[in-house]
Amino acid sequence: MTPCPRISTNKDGLTLSRIVAGMWRMGEWGMSPQQRVALIEQILELGVTSFDHADIYGDYGVEALFGEALKLQPSLRGRMELVSKCGIKLLSSKKPDHRIQHYDTSASHIIASAEASLRHLQTDYLDLLLIHRPDPLTDFDEVAEAFTQLRVAGKVRHFGVSNFSRHQFDCLNKRFALATNQVEFSPLETKPMFDETFDGLQDVGVAPMIWSPLAGGRLFGQPDAHLGNLQSVIQSIADKLDQPFSSVVFAWIMRLPCRPIPLTGSGRIAAIAEAVKATSITLDRNDWFTILRAARGHEVA
Ligand SMILES: NC(=O)c1ccc[n+]([C@@H]2O[C@H](COP(=O)([O-])OP(=O)(O)OC[C@H]3O[C@@H](n4cnc5c(N)ncnc54)[C@H](OP(=O)(O)O)[C@@H]3O)[C@@H](O)[C@H]2O)c1
Repeated sequence: MTPCPRISTNKDGLTLSRIVAGMWRMGEWGMSPQQRVALIEQILELGVTSFDHADIYGDYGVEALFGEALKLQPSLRGRMELVSKCGIKLLSSKKPDHRIQHYDTSASHIIASAEASLRHLQTDYLDLLLIHRPDPLTDFDEVAEAFTQLRVAGKVRHFGVSNFSRHQFDCLNKRFALATNQVEFSPLETKPMFDETFDGLQDVGVAPMIWSPLAGGRLFGQPDAHLGNLQSVIQSIADKLDQPFSSVVFAWIMRLPCRPIPLTGSGRIAAIAEAVKATSITLDRNDWFTILRAARGHEVA
């Protein structure tokens, strides 16, 4: 199979693989440390070199699971880009001082969280750190200052946001050049295409990262009438092109001119390979709009 191509997220020099491996669910995969090393090696062999984390994944546990694998096989680190996130404080038995689930985008929390991610991942630097969710108490100047400190210290190379609106992105981007906005997008969640999130990113030349591209697996769920029609429309295009169902979904996402970078969520190498396969598929306008019509349940005007 053709290896996964690479993509620059903006003009600042961050390059990721065109498909990124999401690690949110790693704690559910029930793998031994050696199995995690083997999975990472298989993912790298596909050309997927970028791995998406967050401090909170797996109840603050996934980064350490991944770090354990990196410690077993230290040569892996130089072959990959590590992405993490900060800014959400979850209720957890590991965090007795969190009395309510809340956001914290203060400089002290951003820096402390990034340093904890480095310890858990057993690495010296992150390639990319994202603010996980927009925080009503954000002071954009303070966030930009925290990013600058982390960069100057060599701890984080690039910065971005996640789940930010177009305007929220612009507020921070004009203070500190951001590498991405990671947002939810799939045939079951089409908002960023219509609320200017994608238009704004295309305008400033920043590629979005896409979470839950398969709607967290709901695309494969028990169908109601709407989902059943969407599934059969995607399947018939997949049959016509002789491609797997999920490859058509990833190709539908990557057809957008803002250059979306999808994250996979599966721990199965075959599922990640289907995402990579999509990088060689270009849907024509008829097929693309046929999926859009089924996704929204109506024609364009
Ligand atoms: N920034 C944010 O706020 C945010 C939020 C959520 C997630 N994320 C990131 O985005 C990544 C991807 O999100 P996601 O996990 O929701 O992605 P997803 O790919 O939409 O969903 C993954 C789920 O779909 C299932 N699936 C995949 N292929 C399938 C198939 N052919 N048939 C049946 N089920 C299938 C997987 O099960 P199997 O494992 O069995 O394949 C898994 O449970 C996460 O790992 C995380 O890194 C970010």
